[in-house]
Amino acid sequence: MSSTNDIVLSTIELTKNFGGLQAVNGVSLDIERGSIKAIIGPNGSGKTTFFNLITGVFPPSSGRIYFEGQDITRLSMHDRTRRGISRSYQITNIFPYQTTFENIRLAAQGCSGARVNFLGMLKKAGTYTEFHEKVLEIAAIVGLDPTRLYIPAALIPHAEQRKLEIAMALATEPRLLLLDEPAAGMAVEEIPEVIDAILRVKRSYGDRLTLLVVEHKMDIVMSLSEEIFVLSEGKMIAKGPPKEIQENEQVLTAYLGDTDEKLA
Ligand SMILES: Nc1ncnc2c1ncn2[C@@H]1O[C@H](COP(=O)(O)OP(=O)(O)OP(=O)(O)O)[C@@H](O)[C@H]1O
Ligand SMILES: [Mg+2]
Repeated sequence: MSSTNDIVLSTIELTKNFGGLQAVNGVSLDIERGSIKAIIGPNGSGKTTFFNLITGVFPPSSGRIYFEGQDITRLSMHDRTRRGISRSYQITNIFPYQTTFENIRLAAQGCSGARVNFLGMLKKAGTYTEFHEKVLEIAAIVGLDPTRLYIPAALIPHAEQRKLEIAMALATEPRLLLLDEPAAGMAVEEIPEVIDAILRVKRSYGDRLTLLVVEHKMDIVMSLSEEIFVLSEGKMIAKGPPKEIQENEQVLTAYLGDTDEKLA
C-alpha cells in the first residue's frame, strides 16, 4: 500500500460506474501533506464524481480510498468530515438568506458538536462568542469584504459568494480541502481574486492544510498547483507539473475533442 505518514490522501484503482458509464475508471493517486494539486479534464471527465467518492456522497464500484493512512472507503460523509475532509461545491451552496457571517458561523458550529434546541437557542452558553473570532479570522484569510459580512449572502457579489464557500469549508477545520471549480460562473476579471484567495489560504495554513482543486480550465490551475492530474473519460491520462502537462500531446488531444475548452 502506498500510504505513508506524508501521504494525506491515497486512492487505489478507484472506479465508479453509473450503469454502463465508467465515470471514474481505475484512478490511483497520492496527495502529499501540505501540497496544492489540481485535477483537470474536459466536461464530463469524472472530476466531480472523483470528489464525490472522496467525500462519500456515494460508494465506489471498486477501489479504495485512504485518508491519513486509514481506509475510509466505506465511511459516511459525516465521518469523513469529522476526520478532516471538507469540500466546496461546483454550484454555489450557501444559505442565501443568512448573512455572510452567519453562514461561516453555522458551518463552524455544525462541526463543533454544539446543537440548537427546540427554541432555536443554543444550549451551549457562549457559543456565539466562541465562534465570533474564528469566523472573522477565516473571513479575513479568504479575503471577504468586511463591510459585507452582515448582509444576506444572496446579496453579495458572485465572486464573494465563491470565497464564502471556501470560508465555510475551512470553518470545519479540515486537513484536506477539496475545491470543485472555485471559479465557476465567474467573469474573467474576477478569477484572479479567487486564485489569490486560494493562495492566501494555502499560505495561512501551511502544511496543516492540503488542497486539491478541480478545474477544467488549464490556465487557472497553472498558477495554483504543484502537480496536475488529468482526467479524460474517467481515466487518468497524465500527471505532472503544470509546464509538462501544458505540453502533453495526450492532454492536448483530450481537450481538443471538447469544443468548449481551450488550452491556456
Ligand atoms: N449521479 C450520477 N448518476 C449518473 N451519472 C452521473 C452521475 N454523476 C455524474 N454522472 C456522469 O458521470 C460522468 C462524469 O461526470 P462528472 O460530473 O464527474 O464530470 P466533471 O468532470 O465534473 O464535468 P464538468 O467539468 O462538466 O463539471 C458524466 O457523464 C456524468 O453525466
Ligand atoms: Mg464537475
